[in-house]
Amino acid sequence: MANDGLIIGLDIGTTSIRAVIGRRTEKGTIEITGVGVSPSSGLRKGVVVNIEATLQSVVAAIDAAEMMSGREVHSCWTGIGGSHIDGVNSRGVVAVTGQSRDEKETREIGPEDIARVLEVARAMVFPMDRQLLEVIPQTYIVDKQPGIRDPLNMIGVALEVEVHIITCSANSAQNLIKCVNRAGFRVNDLVLQTLAAGRAVLTAEEKELGVALVDLGGGTTDAMVYFQGAPYSTYSIPIGGSEITQDISIVKNISFENAEKAKISARCCIADLLETDEDIIIEGMGGRPPMPIPKSEIALIVRPRLAEIFRLVKDKLDSLPLSRPLGGGIVLTGGGAEFLGVVELAAQIFRMPVRIGNPLPLGGLQEKYHSPIFATAIGLVLEGNIREQEKNPERGTAEPRVREPTAGSPFRRMWEWIKREFF
Ligand SMILES: Nc1ncnc2c1ncn2[C@@H]1O[C@H](COP(=O)(O)OP(=O)(O)OP(=O)(O)O)[C@@H](O)[C@H]1O
Ligand SMILES: [Mg+2]
Repeated sequence: MANDGLIIGLDIGTTSIRAVIGRRTEKGTIEITGVGVSPSSGLRKGVVVNIEATLQSVVAAIDAAEMMSGREVHSCWTGIGGSHIDGVNSRGVVAVTGQSRDEKETREIGPEDIARVLEVARAMVFPMDRQLLEVIPQTYIVDKQPGIRDPLNMIGVALEVEVHIITCSANSAQNLIKCVNRAGFRVNDLVLQTLAAGRAVLTAEEKELGVALVDLGGGTTDAMVYFQGAPYSTYSIPIGGSEITQDISIVKNISFENAEKAKISARCCIADLLETDEDIIIEGMGGRPPMPIPKSEIALIVRPRLAEIFRLVKDKLDSLPLSRPLGGGIVLTGGGAEFLGVVELAAQIFRMPVRIGNPLPLGGLQEKYHSPIFATAIGLVLEGNIREQEKNPERGTAEPRVREPTAGSPFRRMWEWIKREFF
């Protein structure tokens, strides 16, 4: 069953699962009608390690979004990310086979030539355990003329393309799909999380000038570098917000859960920026008295770990053979972008302009998703909408790629029971 004008983004993260329901309006714009969040416990570093725990969180997040929007969901655009993602650049060249237009045998580039050159560019040999996720054209070259965005209908003899190819672990992708299917939903497509986040927060100008989107997640920090309008590099650092929490837990000798609460309450990585240095009260364990910790002390623990993450992202960025610096600088998304002082800290390390990537405003429940932590989920809705339109410009509904028997969410199971019993 199709979602009937609804587009659902499902961001399966290491610490949280977010479901966002978008509705395509008559004007063709997107309105967000439902948002659901559930804690995630079945993933490690972006990879599913416990299917049962993950599927329960998926059901909880989608149920919450369904409740808010009052609409039932059947299929979703699911994000994939983490350490197993890899991006490489490749190129392909073909002879144009379009019809002769005059006696000089000039040829017009048709859609089949573009499809063929992309096929050649993607024909790399990947190990058996890798799965192709995205093949994104960066630029086309027609008869040695570079910098062409859309070569359709151009006259030429040789068509060349440069592409960014993204692969992922085949097992991780299958496990992710399995979780969503067993939760009772179909996966329209897996979409790279940073590609989706980029769709929600980056401007065309930033992509053109060159920009690095850095997603500060709970399990990993994922980067996507755009250059001259297209994705250029994709990489992941296996350190995230959980390591920051771990540091607080070790230094303050408190549980991981209490350290997480302290981190979120302090919400700061540069102590000097705190207007007032209040205490955070941590419950005492086993009848011990509560322990007050000043926010500034938490910020002092957060700062070096966050700085280390930025340095690792920068080292990789510096190793890229870019012809000029990224004019668009750095855009931060994910939960780590919520820290007070994160822009200042990142700017010190990257020595580039830095900003927070809040999702660009859409219609609907804006106050519910106006946060960098929602960038990926909102981007999945936007990317899903574009892919649906491309597949079926008339109706804008996509045929799901994956079909497997589904278990059904509580919402759906109740509905099935009502139908059986009363109709
Ligand atoms: N207000 C906040 N201030 C600081 N950190 C926060 C805040 N809210 C959430 N976080 C942290 O952000 C991280 C979660 O971010 P996010 O939801 O983007 O990650 P995820 O998508 O679950 O993980 P990943 O993308 O790595 O799979 C956690 O480490 C959490 O502690
Ligand atoms: Mg994430």
